[in-house]
Amino acid sequence: MEKELYLAAGCFWGAEHFLKQIEGVTFTEVGFANGTTPNPTYQQVYTDTTGYAETVHLRYDPLRVSLHFLLEMYFKAIDPTSLNQQGEDRGTRYRTGIYYTHPDDLPLIQYVMSVEAGKYGLPLQVEVLPLANFYRAEDYHQDYLVNNPDGYCHLPVELFAYARNNRDTATLQKCDTYSLLLRQAKALAEGEADLIALMANMSSLLHESLHFWWTGFYRVVGEELLLGPFQGPVACMHIAYGRGVCGTAWKEGRTLVVPDVEAFPGHIACSAASRSEIVVPVRSQEKIVAVLDIDSKEHATFDDCDRFYLEQLVTLLCSAQ
Ligand code: SME
Repeated sequence: MEKELYLAAGCFWGAEHFLKQIEGVTFTEVGFANGTTPNPTYQQVYTDTTGYAETVHLRYDPLRVSLHFLLEMYFKAIDPTSLNQQGEDRGTRYRTGIYYTHPDDLPLIQYVMSVEAGKYGLPLQVEVLPLANFYRAEDYHQDYLVNNPDGYCHLPVELFAYARNNRDTATLQKCDTYSLLLRQAKALAEGEADLIALMANMSSLLHESLHFWWTGFYRVVGEELLLGPFQGPVACMHIAYGRGVCGTAWKEGRTLVVPDVEAFPGHIACSAASRSEIVVPVRSQEKIVAVLDIDSKEHATFDDCDRFYLEQLVTLLCSAQ
């Protein structure tokens, strides 16, 4: 399961060299994003009339590095308050931008932007847009600083050591815990057909291993979700179809990761302490029969690692039925 992201961070020579050294980044290439003319050359982009931004396309393994960590690293390599200039490089081609290819990434990008804006007290000049287009740059721009170690770079060399020496240990540890937990859950689920008994033990297993704020299930009963087995503080008992994060995940039939519950329209605050949430539908023979809901007291707790393992975990619930 690889993911991708496009980051404009000023001159793409240094930006690629920085990003490619982050553990979990599996591929990088440089090119031109979100411009107006087809098949631009470097010469054309250099005129600053094509609308393109020098951009690094990267792929990464979300079980080794989270989007959150990547964005935090990205912000270390840019001045986000500077419009169309990074270092001494000036022009719209050197603007900063986060271009995403999957709308599910947007809430986290917006959350990180709001945290960064709070640090500066100035408006950020970083564009956040869906990727409109991307053209790979000429070969001599690829891996430029590997092939030209003394080549021009607007970034300080210490940043490259920083990228090498800082790994996303939180994600690495979390994924390890999940993979152990999945094995335990498989053993628990073996031969057991009672959904409520399984939900009870799965809630406990998750809650005890990962120390969430609230971990539990809502079951589809008639036209609504009804509280099922859970661990944590007292919660709302009834949730209507399409309401809150749970009812929306049921309606849309997909996992929802919410980095900041206050930014989710219609979020139901069973507990005022909850800051972020993940909801995963539970299916039995293609039909949604329940949702797994997990809340955290911290913002942006859940990511693709949680999504990946929790989606596998809930398939165990109905496997013996
Ligand atoms: N926040 C949920 C309601 C359930 S509690 O988090 C336990 C929602 O918006 O659906």
